[in-house]
Amino acid sequence: MNDVVRRAHVTGWGRYAPAQVLTNADLERMVDTSDEWIRTRTGIRERRVAAAHETTASMGAVAGLRAIRTAGIEPDEIDLILLATLTPDYWMPSTAALVKEAIGNSKAAAFDVMAACSGFVYAFSTALAYITAGLAKHVLVIGAELLTRFLDYTDRSTCILFGDGAGAVVVSASEEPGGALGIEMTTEPQGAYMIWLPAGGAKAPPSAQTIARGEHYVRMEGNATYRFATKTMATTALESIRRSGLEPGDIDLFIPHQANVRIVEAVAKGLGLPMDKMYVNLDRYGNTSAASVPIALAEAVNEGRVKVGDNVTIVAFGAGFTSGAVTLNWTADPARGPLGDAAVRPEDVRVRLPVDWDSVDPIPDALAELMNRPGSVEVPLDDVVPGEPEPAGHPEPVGR
Ligand code: ACO
Repeated sequence: MNDVVRRAHVTGWGRYAPAQVLTNADLERMVDTSDEWIRTRTGIRERRVAAAHETTASMGAVAGLRAIRTAGIEPDEIDLILLATLTPDYWMPSTAALVKEAIGNSKAAAFDVMAACSGFVYAFSTALAYITAGLAKHVLVIGAELLTRFLDYTDRSTCILFGDGAGAVVVSASEEPGGALGIEMTTEPQGAYMIWLPAGGAKAPPSAQTIARGEHYVRMEGNATYRFATKTMATTALESIRRSGLEPGDIDLFIPHQANVRIVEAVAKGLGLPMDKMYVNLDRYGNTSAASVPIALAEAVNEGRVKVGDNVTIVAFGAGFTSGAVTLNWTADPARGPLGDAAVRPEDVRVRLPVDWDSVDPIPDALAELMNRPGSVEVPLDDVVPGEPEPAGHPEPVGR
């Protein structure tokens, strides 16, 4: 009988945010809104927009490689890649498969996880299951999202909320104490049509008609989603904390999904905790869906908000309606994070395209002016094809 206790520890973390910033002032020029309305109702000041040559896979690969370098392992030591996204590069293959090739891994199984904004927490929980079952040693868990290409820039109720980016962690098997403790996940399909993207799937395949109706854009019932979020984030976090044998007061830092600062404030109130226990960076990135928790986790650790021995709860909600939380005892040296970031330059990471396929410019018309501002990153769309000549002179690194 095998009585070894396998635990799952976060050993690496990394993030990537595209260079271009879309401010509330920029949005004031597109829709009938104001910086004041957006700041007071959501807490968001700006968000990032991926450049034309960037994709969910390319951003995920940069964040993933940074997490691998932070962990101090080689890409080929990863034996499972889980990528959470609601904005994959293609319907098929999986974005995780593209990332596997881009990071130079030859042995991992790779697949996407789709649970909208809860996707990273769901993927993280999947990694824990594989590790504790003895099926994997090092799992790369990525949340990557390119939402700015799925927004209706005439709909002020959605286009102000979302942004692009990627975050990742390496979860590793260990017999040492600590690591992931308690998991809670819920899915409540009565909320299925509160946040949805109607067309493009089997129910409504893409056509001139679906495009004319704008059914390829994110739709949302903001108020219903808000009500669900405030309730479920607190109850899901609480269940995960209790399953860990802890109480809310034992948690040193919460990393909540970064959708709206009022939702985060309501969760703090619901758990009877001060706001300084809640990590917030949505003012700078908006809602990056599945990328929001891993970006926030990586930033919080690199900013010194997490120490060895701290209890941390990650908690998210999203379309479905889904929600999930994991409580963990942090064991990795926080000083490793900046080393991982510095080791990976975005321009050195390539996602392969088929050579006989011409990429179209993916930037929405409403963002074209923003992306053509002086100082924007100018990289040809086919720059991602390996074996092509390098562009003359690298652009400045665009990661943070
Ligand atoms: N600028 C100015 N006014 C606006 C804007 C805007 N950008 N958007 C809406 N309004 C108006 C509305 O039209 C409405 O006007 P009316 O009273 O004349 O009808 C008024 O502001 C109030 O609208 P509400 O929708 O009631 O505003 P609320 O305070 O609820 O804030 C918001 C809206 C920010 C969307 C909020 O409901 C929210 O954050 N909901 C949760 C959304 C969320 O987290 N979604 C992500 C889910 S995760 C995923 O899986 C993708």
